[in-house]
Amino acid sequence: MSERPDFDPSTLVIHSNRSYEMQSNSILFPIHQTATYIHESVGVTKGYGYSRGANPTVNALEQAIAAIENTATALCFRSGMSAIHTLCMAILKAGDHVILSDVIYGGTMRLFHQVLGNFGIEYSYVDTSSAAPVEAAIKPNTRLIFLESPANPTLKISDIRGVSEVAHKHENILVAVDNTFLTPLLQDCLALGADVSMLSTTKYIDGHNATIGGSLATNDEKLVERLRLVRKTIGSIQTPFDSWLALQGIKTLPARLEVHCKHAKQIAAWLEAHPRVAKVNYPGLDSFPQKALAASQQSDFGGMLSFELDASTEDSLRFMNALKLCTCAESLGSVETLATNPATASHCDLTREAREALGISDRLIRLSVGLEAPKDLIADFEQAFAAVFGSKA
Ligand SMILES: Cc1ncc(COP(=O)(O)O)c(C=O)c1O
Repeated sequence: MSERPDFDPSTLVIHSNRSYEMQSNSILFPIHQTATYIHESVGVTKGYGYSRGANPTVNALEQAIAAIENTATALCFRSGMSAIHTLCMAILKAGDHVILSDVIYGGTMRLFHQVLGNFGIEYSYVDTSSAAPVEAAIKPNTRLIFLESPANPTLKISDIRGVSEVAHKHENILVAVDNTFLTPLLQDCLALGADVSMLSTTKYIDGHNATIGGSLATNDEKLVERLRLVRKTIGSIQTPFDSWLALQGIKTLPARLEVHCKHAKQIAAWLEAHPRVAKVNYPGLDSFPQKALAASQQSDFGGMLSFELDASTEDSLRFMNALKLCTCAESLGSVETLATNPATASHCDLTREAREALGISDRLIRLSVGLEAPKDLIADFEQAFAAVFGSKA
């Protein structure tokens, strides 16, 4: 960590790994596509023994992520879900209790409902938008508070500072934040008091829909060692090739995020002013009820929004199907603008009643605003409105 040059993040994501390939001087760090490493003599290695434990290309990505997390180390995993799963395997045991943000990615809910619950892990969904409900939900066996902010898909904001303060009154409670929607460049969860920052690198870190991956960063060195051990044991490390692709993606992360934020602001304002739009969830809008909380812990509002048309679910889905430039596809954070319907995608496991209680109606559309020119995206929305509502659009 002390060796990391004092560069701006936009420089660090390109130059965090200074150990270039010596044989040819290739400017790109190579893909070390290998399962194992030659021992110089029995038991003597260059620090790499077997790629389930560590790999130089994975490590290069880890250094780039650690640079923007401002930690000594970050660890990369086969997916965002495998990062969360490894964290849980590393710190929880049967009988422990976890507090989860009430609005949270559907896959995280599935992990607790359908997998960890079977191993005696207790969990509760709590409104994490302020510290008080979290404090009230803490039990003697609570070990982890897992926040997601802004949350998928309603953009609900958790009070990371407040929740961390309350949690740290207790000796054994860790706070982890799924920071996938913003990345540490827009929200420094660790500086806000959280113990662990988690990313689905599939999204903004990669940025090009090329890989599935995840990362964890923490300043707790003991936890890093425990995570390494569990990762090596269950085999959840990222692959060299996917790490290499994500390593190319992260180099443009700061530049891309600036454009994502700028475009999302424009699209959110345009949608909000449209007569066929009933509601837009975007933390940068004055109408967003938690704008002040978002502004107090984020440096910008990100590229994600969700909205409801003033129309039936059927017409809302027809609108999505009529989009030509925006792509209907799961995932987010890529250069392409992607639209999804959370009720049939990320949150399909929940009952309609449970979704509605969280603000996830069947007609909600989630939009990951890409890097296309906003005027072209707006023209696409206009033609989709016209296709569904005709001249009444
Ligand atoms: C907020 C959030 N966290 C975690 C994940 C899981 O990441 P992955 O798909 O890389 O496993 C997703 C996936 O959509 C997500 O949106």
